[in-house]
Parts: sequence; C-alpha cells; structure tokens
Amino acid sequence: MTAPHIAPGARVKDETDEAAAAAHVQTLFNAIAPTYDRANHLISMGLDRHWWRKAACAFRSTLARPDARILDLCCGTGDMTAALLKVRKEAAASVGAAEPLTGLDFSAEMLTRARVKYPSPDVLWVEGDAMHLPYPDATFDLVTAAFGFRNLTDYAGGLREIFRVLRPGGRIGILEANQPEGLSAIVYNAYFRGLVPLVGGMISGDRAAYKYLPASVARFPRPPNMLAMMRETGFADAAWDGYLLHAAGLYRGTK
Ligand SMILES: C[S@@+](CC[C@H](N)C(=O)[O-])C[C@H]1O[C@@H](n2cnc3c(N)ncnc32)[C@H](O)[C@@H]1O
Repeated sequence: MTAPHIAPGARVKDETDEAAAAAHVQTLFNAIAPTYDRANHLISMGLDRHWWRKAACAFRSTLARPDARILDLCCGTGDMTAALLKVRKEAAASVGAAEPLTGLDFSAEMLTRARVKYPSPDVLWVEGDAMHLPYPDATFDLVTAAFGFRNLTDYAGGLREIFRVLRPGGRIGILEANQPEGLSAIVYNAYFRGLVPLVGGMISGDRAAYKYLPASVARFPRPPNMLAMMRETGFADAAWDGYLLHAAGLYRGTK
C-alpha cells in the first residue's frame, strides 16, 4: 500500500516555487482584510468566537503565569490574540506585571485592523513571517496559531520554526479547520465548497480568495498525519481535540 500524498504546504495557484506561493497568500489576505471579519463571522455562523475562546482556555495554566511569553502566529485581525489576553486576565493572579502578548502576521492590512480593534498596551502587534520568526531560540512558553497555520507554504518547516522559538516545556496550540470524513463530509462539502465561495465572494468581491480557503483545508494534512509531523518535529504529548463534527480542532503539544 502506498502512503497517502501529503502536501508540503499551502498553494494558491499550484505554484512550484514556495516564495511565489507565500507572496500569493500574503496578497490574498491583504486584499480581503477590509471584509475579513464580517465574512468570517458569517461563514462560521459565529462559531469562530467560541472556538478562539475554547482554544485559549486550553492553555489557561500557561496564561496564568505573568512571566510566560506568548506568541500568536498568523494573528490576522487579532481575535485569537485577544481571546488569549482575556483568558490571561481572568486567570492571572497579578495582571499588572504580565509580559505583553505578541500577535504576528505578514499581512500589513490584517494587522492594521488588529491594531485598531485592540489598541491594548498588553499586546505587541508585529509584522513578520511565521516561517522566519524574528526571535532567538527558546523565547516563548506558548505559541498559537488560529486558522493560519494551514496557510504556511511549508507545514513541516513551520512546525520546526515554532519548535525552535519555544522554550523547553513550552507549548504549541494550533487551532485549524479540518476536512471531516464520512457522513458529515457530505454536509461540510456542500457548505464549505458550495456556499462559502458564494457568500465570501459576495462580501469581499473576491470569489477566488474564498475558493482558496476550502481548497487550503482540503490539502491540509488530516489529524493523524499532522500529529505524526508534530511528533517528528520533537513535540511530546501531541494531541488533537476535534470541534463540531471535526470541522475544526485544536492541536496541542509540548517541547
Ligand atoms: C485565515 S487568517 C486567520 C487570522 C486569525 N488568526 C483568525 O483566527 O481570524 C490567516 C492569517 O495567516 C496569515 N499568514 C499566512 N501565512 C503567513 C506567514 N508565513 N507569516 C505570517 N502570517 C501568515 C495571513 O496573513 C492571515 O492573516
């Protein structure tokens, strides 16, 4: 039996060159940034807020430590970062002394929205590339990414980069969409591949971008393969919790 083909990373237009693919991903998110939040809430039927919160709560013990350094990758317009900050404030004994959180993204347009939505001194918004993080080894105690990791053009390279910047004992949390299997796949495919490009296209005026989104989920490794990649990278306790008929889920692991 041959092993299933696993895509190395995101591609917008079947690019063979990784740099060209990354440039297309960046252009796409810059283009849809003005309507991203509206389209996102509608497409996910408001579940996105619930999922950001649920994912953040999974890291409550790390967030409770005021000295913990936290990086939210592919932060987009900042909602996952804000969910982490909220749980941190609820959980921390002494909020005043807490390290600021960092939200990082390579789309200047998405970050502009994050800065306006969340002008908090408790968050640093950084323009940067998740594949080449501007931090030394062993800097962070928690690195998260919500619905962003599958847009990286090299999934294994992205995991290695997260591993590099985590401190020993540090945790990874990747909240990501997933292609369900079996009966729920029929409902999911009709909705995600049929309705999402239509609705997203109408709101953003960019139907191609909203065709890329379901396509990027389809090419992203399924949980067993993603967990194997995490273990190969060196993460211990790699686990996945499926959300809503496995249409999304949270990957966790420890360095
Ligand atoms: C679907 S949005 C998710 C945004 C946000 N985390 C959320 O949950 O709404 C994906 C984000 O990943 C960012 N992204 C993709 N590849 C990236 C990379 N190599 N470095 C930094 N950001 C990246 C995009 O610019 C975009 O803002």
